[in-house]
Amino acid sequence: MPTDILRKQLIDHASEPYRRAGRFAYHFARGKLGGDPMFFALLQRNLIPDQARILDLGCGQGLLAAWLFAARTLFAMGKWPRNWSTPPQPGEIRGIDLLAADVRRAQTALPAPARFEQGDMRYADFGQADVVVIMDVLHYVDPAAQDDVLRRVRAALAPGGLLLTRVGDASAGLAFRLSNWVDRTVAFFRGTRLPPLHCRPLHEWVAALEALGFAVETASMNGDLPFANVMLVARLGAADGPAI
Ligand SMILES: C[S@@+](CC[C@H](N)C(=O)[O-])C[C@H]1O[C@@H](n2cnc3c(N)ncnc32)[C@H](O)[C@@H]1O
Repeated sequence: MPTDILRKQLIDHASEPYRRAGRFAYHFARGKLGGDPMFFALLQRNLIPDQARILDLGCGQGLLAAWLFAARTLFAMGKWPRNWSTPPQPGEIRGIDLLAADVRRAQTALPAPARFEQGDMRYADFGQADVVVIMDVLHYVDPAAQDDVLRRVRAALAPGGLLLTRVGDASAGLAFRLSNWVDRTVAFFRGTRLPPLHCRPLHEWVAALEALGFAVETASMNGDLPFANVMLVARLGAADGPAI
């Protein structure tokens, strides 16, 4: 199957459940899933293992869960490309977000094994997870809180665990300023005010994760878009025990 047809079907299936949560939720899902190449890249690169317990920090209205469910639906319908890996069936997806309205949309739209709660990642109990996802969220909290969240993520991850986080690269010049401008514009249309952002150069993010024992790969995942956001794929070794 051509990838543009697969992409369209994924967007259709992932957005559909948001009709239950209202027009804004539906159109926001279509716009974000259609405009952000990261979601497609996550599946194409087969980054999330099957049956993983996934913790999605700053989950917004739960688009990651909707996207993974849509992939499984297409797979069950026999509409999955033969040369792609089987899309992961999540063991559970627990989403945490600061905004009550987003959490309500996620809860209204998406079934188990997804569950969503309002909370602040700076204080929430992370429990145990195999995969932690933090997409475009860390820069909302100050550097001390960023370090603390990453340390607690490390502690929550099982051996062999995976952290997927997308961060802005503050050393990326014009592309970085463009990414910030997009952040502010999206916040405006969602009716929220953007707090001060705390961004770091890419090498600092990588160093912070390596200091916690992660092996880190970077991937742009922006398609042709000129943004400074970088995906960090941070893995623990299978033998890595709990953080000290
Ligand atoms: C740019 S959106 C990204 C949403 C989602 N991760 C995605 O990729 O579609 C950032 C989200 O982080 C949430 N957020 C910001 N600070 C947070 C915090 N301290 N704890 C939990 N969520 C937070 C916001 O409410 C918002 O939904």
